[in-house]
Amino acid sequence: MDFVARLGLSIPLIQAPMAGTSTPALAAEVCNAGALGSLALGAIGPEEARRQIADLRGQTDRPFNLNLFVHEAPRTDLAREQAWLDALAPAFAAFGASPPPALETIYQSFAGSAEMLDVVLEARPAVVSFHFGLPDSRAIAALKAAGCLLLGSVTSLAEAELSLAAGIDVVVAQGWEAGGHRGLFDPDAADDRLGTLALTRLLARWGKLPVIAAGGIMDGAGIRAALDLGAVATQLGTAFVACPESSADAGYRALLASDAALHTTMTRAISGRPARCLANRFTQLGERADLPPVPDYPRTYHAGKALNAAAKAQGEPLYGAQWAGQGAPLSRPMAAAELVALLAAELALTRP
Ligand SMILES: Cc1cc2nc3c(=O)[nH]c(=O)nc-3n(C[C@H](O)[C@H](O)[C@H](O)COP(=O)(O)O)c2cc1C
Repeated sequence: MDFVARLGLSIPLIQAPMAGTSTPALAAEVCNAGALGSLALGAIGPEEARRQIADLRGQTDRPFNLNLFVHEAPRTDLAREQAWLDALAPAFAAFGASPPPALETIYQSFAGSAEMLDVVLEARPAVVSFHFGLPDSRAIAALKAAGCLLLGSVTSLAEAELSLAAGIDVVVAQGWEAGGHRGLFDPDAADDRLGTLALTRLLARWGKLPVIAAGGIMDGAGIRAALDLGAVATQLGTAFVACPESSADAGYRALLASDAALHTTMTRAISGRPARCLANRFTQLGERADLPPVPDYPRTYHAGKALNAAAKAQGEPLYGAQWAGQGAPLSRPMAAAELVALLAAELALTRP
């Protein structure tokens, strides 16, 4: 499939959906500049999703991507959760705060969510993408019948095989380098931690679905490298965090622009699932050997967000979910449209 031609793109580039960081304005600027903009609907409810889609539609007529989290429903293990809250209590106390009395499921999976499916079907976006897993066959059939091209994030050949069997059209090969949540279908299964280079090539040689490369790609040379490996396009997240149109807060932007960007780490302590983050006080806390087992995603994230809010209220930015990939030091703060134009120019320069 000619992914770029089907969507009328002028560059083989997707702005990654970034829950909590991407915005309708960011997606619109990217779309209008000739790449594919994405709205992250994974961590919001149907009403807010409708609002953001309308906001995006008000700013662009071009195709866009709607992204959904398809994780397993979390287990509610009260003893485990209380132990976790107790372990975090001293960190809260340092900011004059207490942990929430109990963890809550702060957002629902797309799996089985008839309401969110209705929102997406009403919107009929050109592209729908999934992270953490795959929806059921009815949802997939309904989205395909609505004309949506379906993308599934995968971290292994096995997840790509499952995606093919489920009817996914294109796989997003997410390497270990990637910023944000790792799209593992089962966060408790063994993880081969394949890098973007090996995974992209593995899936391109497999050859049963078109491949989009994601993870550590920050400039035109990176995009070219992915295309040379057989990818039909690339998905960049971290590169867009520093755009003024993102909702990254001042602390996140400052860290990304500093030498701290040289250090990213995979942590489960913030949300309950592995995610690559700029090394900060929260990721340090997560490395403590005496911590009890982490509760399920996204219930753990309830405490993670509360701890960040308590720290931020006291002027401490280093407890944020400052997701970033290993390419973070290559980040270039500039307007999204300028970044897309720069990436296109750099990509053009890579060929004689
Ligand atoms: C801040 C941030 C938030 C993210 N949120 C999402 C999300 O909501 N949905 C999703 O499919 N991927 C999400 N990702 C992962 C991206 O889709 C992609 O795999 C990753 O950004 C690629 O690596 P890079 O950050 O090095 O470009 C996020 C990444 C970042 C950096």
